[in-house]
Amino acid sequence: MATPPHGPRSALVRLACLLLVGTASPSLGALWHPDGDGLAADGAGAEWRPAPSPRAHLLARHPLLSAPTSCPRVLPIFLAVPVRSMAHDPSAFLQGLAFHDHVLFEASGLYGKSSLRIIDAHNGSVLRQNHLRGAEPRGSLPGALLSRPARRFFAEGVTHWRGKLLMLTWREGSLLEYDASTLAFVREHRNFADQFERREGWGITNDGSWLYVSDGSSRLYVVSPDTLRVVETIRVVGESPPSAMRWPYRRRSGGGGVRAITLLNELEMLPNGVLLFNVWLSDYIGVWDARKRCLLGWINGTGFDDAFRSRRRMGACLNGIAFDETTGELLISGKLWPVMHAIRLEI
Ligand SMILES: *[C@@H]1O[C@H](CO)[C@@H](O)[C@H](O)[C@H]1NC(C)=O
Ligand SMILES: *[C@@H]1O[C@H](CO)[C@@H](O)[C@H](O)[C@H]1NC(C)=O
Repeated sequence: MATPPHGPRSALVRLACLLLVGTASPSLGALWHPDGDGLAADGAGAEWRPAPSPRAHLLARHPLLSAPTSCPRVLPIFLAVPVRSMAHDPSAFLQGLAFHDHVLFEASGLYGKSSLRIIDAHNGSVLRQNHLRGAEPRGSLPGALLSRPARRFFAEGVTHWRGKLLMLTWREGSLLEYDASTLAFVREHRNFADQFERREGWGITNDGSWLYVSDGSSRLYVVSPDTLRVVETIRVVGESPPSAMRWPYRRRSGGGGVRAITLLNELEMLPNGVLLFNVWLSDYIGVWDARKRCLLGWINGTGFDDAFRSRRRMGACLNGIAFDETTGELLISGKLWPVMHAIRLEI
């Protein structure tokens, strides 16, 4: 039985949970975070239940995600069916999507083109954009060039954390912090990725207590938002979808079978403790039970392939997942995709 990460924050959450459960109505009790289960998990062998998040019921329209009860032997594969589509900037090399209070944030990559954006979740318009200005190292470029997009950073995943946006950078390994309402640069946390196996930043999300980071390997890193240090490393192992994985899966394995799932990319933690992850070069989104540490299934996103086949060579693959807790919409898009879809899942 996997135990949740422990630390001062976890202890605080548990204390808060005790107080809430002890004094409040069931609805208030439902507000506390699943890490509160650490109380029971300390006793070993305790079963994790889906997090009773106040918004978790909005997942009900996504059958795979609403009530993860056990680790399935045969992984269900759900088809992503668009219910609503909106424009996405086809020049944006999408690396991360995140919602907070119905505001959609996007980080898009490439050297010299990386930016952080606020997107209108209704029509896909870019409402605000920061070409990573401010994060440019001082003195490294002539003044005239300072207003141009930063050359130094390749933006990766982004997550909203307490009024700030935490954005990974790829090989630079820095974690950049921005103000979430103005997109103003706040600070750079250098060498953040040095603690990861590949020393790179790929995907990031959070569950309200911890940050979860991927580095393109099969590992997920649970990171303290206070110290920015890894408190736990999780290996994602499971059955890959049959024959559907693109290179390098085919070459290595022929598809199928249980193995470490590598190339973990953009991440999205749902309010019930289910973590969705893109796999680089794959059109399938992994569904991972973050507490039981098992794969729950795959979301089949191959249906969007045809429209982007010609741009594949430029790297236009499925990447970008965001769950809007205010509406229950699950958004997906991709690098250089001209559209963003709100999807439902069909078995
Ligand atoms: C999208 O909605 C915003 C309001 O949130 C509006 O300012 C903008 O013009 C709209 N864009 C398009 C393309 O309709
Ligand atoms: C994924 O969906 C496509 C249709 O878009 C279908 O042809 C394919 O068989 C599905 N793959 C799996 C593994 O279910």
